[in-house]
Amino acid sequence: MNNNIVAVYPGSFDPPTKGHLDIISRASKIFPKVIVAITENYNKHHMFNLQERVDMMKESVSNIKNVEVDSFSGLLADYLVKIESFFVIRGLRALSDFEYEFQMALMNRTLNQKIETIFLMPDQIYTFLSSSMIKEIAGLGGDFKNLVPEPVYKRFKIKNNL
Ligand code: COA
Repeated sequence: MNNNIVAVYPGSFDPPTKGHLDIISRASKIFPKVIVAITENYNKHHMFNLQERVDMMKESVSNIKNVEVDSFSGLLADYLVKIESFFVIRGLRALSDFEYEFQMALMNRTLNQKIETIFLMPDQIYTFLSSSMIKEIAGLGGDFKNLVPEPVYKRFKIKNNL
């Protein structure tokens, strides 16, 4: 194994869910080092600011020693050049994810031929999960404790004065 291989798992993670953690855990068993790269998604209105999302993610992956958390702005392709790593991890939950992921993978490769996207499937119990759904359930008073890492649950409680 090439010990220099670094895989990057990009996303907005607003907030991180157990589905994201599942993908990170799988990637950490394949790659010597995984960087979770958190960014703004300008198509979305974020509930947690970038620093809060970075903090939540750092606390959530603190027990996985080959995982680091970073943030970036601008194009993912430019960030990959900056850190000199060209393997991108993405999760595929269902067929409905495929078209968007396919488009993004090919666009990233068009921007830089070195970029390879690797798709991992989360455990089927998380295939229905999304960050928006967590925010909706939390906002309407539903129980989402088992769907997010403990540090994320705590942040929600603080933010909503629960
Ligand atoms: N478990 C649970 N939820 C998951 C999941 C998993 N394994 N995988 C994805 N999701 C959810 C996410 O939480 C997100 O939920 P939401 O829409 O309710 O917020 C949704 O699925 C979509 O996730 P994703 O496609 O990862 O969107 P994102 O905003 O997290 O990430 C970026 C998209 C940030 C990677 C992409 O916009 C990007 O690269 N931006 C940088 C700018 C750039 O380079 N643009 C050109 C790209 S070609």
